[in-house]
This record gives sequence, structure tokens and C-alpha cells, in this order.
Amino acid sequence: KLSRKFVDGLPKAELHVHIEGTLEAEMEFAIAKRNQIDIGAKTPADIDRNYGVGLPEFLKAYYKGMQVLRTKQDFYDLTAAFLRKEADSNVKHLELFFDPQAHTSRGIPFATVIEGIHEAIVDAASLDIDVQLIMCFLREYSQESAMQTLKEAEPYHKKGWILGVGLDSDEHHNPPLKFMLVFAKARNQGYYLTMHCDLHQVDTVDHIKQALEIITVDRLDHGLNIVENADLMTFLIDIKIGITACPMAYFYTRKVMEQKAINKLFNNGALISFNSDDPAYKGSNYINDVYYKFAQKCNWSEKELVRIAQNSFKTSWISQQEKESYL
Ligand code: ADE
Ligand code: ZN
Repeated sequence: KLSRKFVDGLPKAELHVHIEGTLEAEMEFAIAKRNQIDIGAKTPADIDRNYGVGLPEFLKAYYKGMQVLRTKQDFYDLTAAFLRKEADSNVKHLELFFDPQAHTSRGIPFATVIEGIHEAIVDAASLDIDVQLIMCFLREYSQESAMQTLKEAEPYHKKGWILGVGLDSDEHHNPPLKFMLVFAKARNQGYYLTMHCDLHQVDTVDHIKQALEIITVDRLDHGLNIVENADLMTFLIDIKIGITACPMAYFYTRKVMEQKAINKLFNNGALISFNSDDPAYKGSNYINDVYYKFAQKCNWSEKELVRIAQNSFKTSWISQQEKESYL
């Protein structure tokens, strides 16, 4: 029988988690208070994280919550708390998403966001966790806006603070190809590339095809609808591209953990990993909750979870040498 202790002790990498999605109600409340922002809550319990089912409903709550983040200290505190949690969860390597346009669009300078997050990463040096950043573009914004964001990121990328770029937020009518030029430019600048292809959006399989065949991403986020197209699934497996699943996220946006699609990918040898996505908005299910709850649901033993953890290292963007030290 699978023990929680085994899950907690298993060394793992996390590759799909948004820093803004780790903002627990308690911290949102405390930061709002310190910034003298009225969020209409007398206690943290008044902050409603039961936003309903569906990606648009989640996104609405997510963008509302992060409005309290204004200063470098806010981004620092959010990141520092999460890194402690990850290290405690035996996450050895973390590739962390951040959404700069969700802040620059509110008048918060790019520098405030990246410097706050980066300082927390530097100060976590004693924690035995390796942390890299992935900058996501918001897909409902224009390609020009993404280009501008890429330009603002350039000095930080050159310093080695940002390893990859991603694409997230509202997928409806916002296909990967909308961002073809910005992703080509990012690749040219040396970034790794990944993209969300969320569950059951309009034309998801087409979007996955675009991401894999035209943008040629280095990893695919969610993307579980790939099981609907056998050729595409075989292609993903052949080229050994990682796919980041977030079972608890699906539960909170669809009331299912997508066991069938995940098992199909897993059993066919796809390099699928488990991740928490936006834990503070998904029932406070952090990485070990995700591993444990999915395994319980599917009667998985230690063996399967070991392979999931191995996949997480294999499909991370660390050097081959570092990978081997974990495998
Ligand atoms: N932004 C944060 N989490 C996201 C998700 N799971 N899908 C799309 N956009 C997101
Ligand atoms: Zn995500």
C-alpha cells in the first residue's frame, strides 16, 4: 500500500506551477492589509476561492487575487514562502512560471516583479532546491505586447535569470500561431520554449499540433487532448517531448482528474510529469498532494510514481549530467 511518507520523501522536479497561483488567501489578506488595499474581506476566510468550474472562472479569480501584489517585497514574500514549501516537499528542481503582463498591465514595472522573485530565489540558496524561471505570455494579449515583454526581459535573460518562455491564460481564439514570431525570436535568444494547450478548449488538438510541429516547443503544458489523435501522440512519444499534467487542477476546473488520458499517455511511454499548476486556487493541493491523490485514485503503487518523478527530471531543462545525478 502506498504511503504518504514515501510520496513526501520522493525526490522530484516540478515543471508547471505559476508563482501567482501559489498566493494563499492568508497571504493575499496580509499583503492587502500592508498595502492598504480594500479587497472586501475582514478575515482571510472571507476570500472566496470557490470560483466555480471552468478555466474562465478560475482565471477571473486568479487575476483578482494577484491585484494585491504591488511591491518588490510582495513578490519576494510570495516566492520565498513557496520555495520553502517546495524544498519541504522534496522538490529538488523547480521551473517556475511567472506572468509579467498580469502586473505590467496594472502599472507594476517589470523590474519590480522579476527583482522580487529573483531575490527570493537567491536567498533560498541554502534550501537544497535548484530554481529556474519561465516567463509566460498571456495569450489574450497581442503579439506586440508579448514582443514588448520579451524586450523588457532581455537584460534579465542575459544575466541568466530567465530560462524559458511559455504561453498561458485564455486559450479561446488565441492559438499558438498567434505568437509564432515572438516564440521564434525567443528561441533565437536562447530561451527554452513551452506552451499551455489546456483541456477541452476550442480546437485544442489543432493547438497541440501547432505547438509541436510549427513552434517546435521543448515541452507541452497540459495537452492531454493529444490522446484523441494517435499519430500526434506517437509523434510526441517518439521525439521525447515532456508533457506536464496537473491532475488536481483538472479536478478543480472539471471535477475529474483526467485519469484515462493520463494513464494512456503513461502506459504508452510518454514522458508525463505531475505538477500543481495553481495550488492556492486548486484546494491547496501542493505537489505531494497531487502525487498521492492521483495514485490513490488509480491504485498506483510506488513504482508508477517513481517513474513520474523520473520523467520530471528527464524533461526538465537541467544538464544531462545533473539529470543523471537524479535518475
Ligand atoms: N494561468 C495560470 N494557470 C493557468 C492554467 N492552468 N491555464 C491557463 N492559464 C493559466
Ligand atoms: Zn498552468
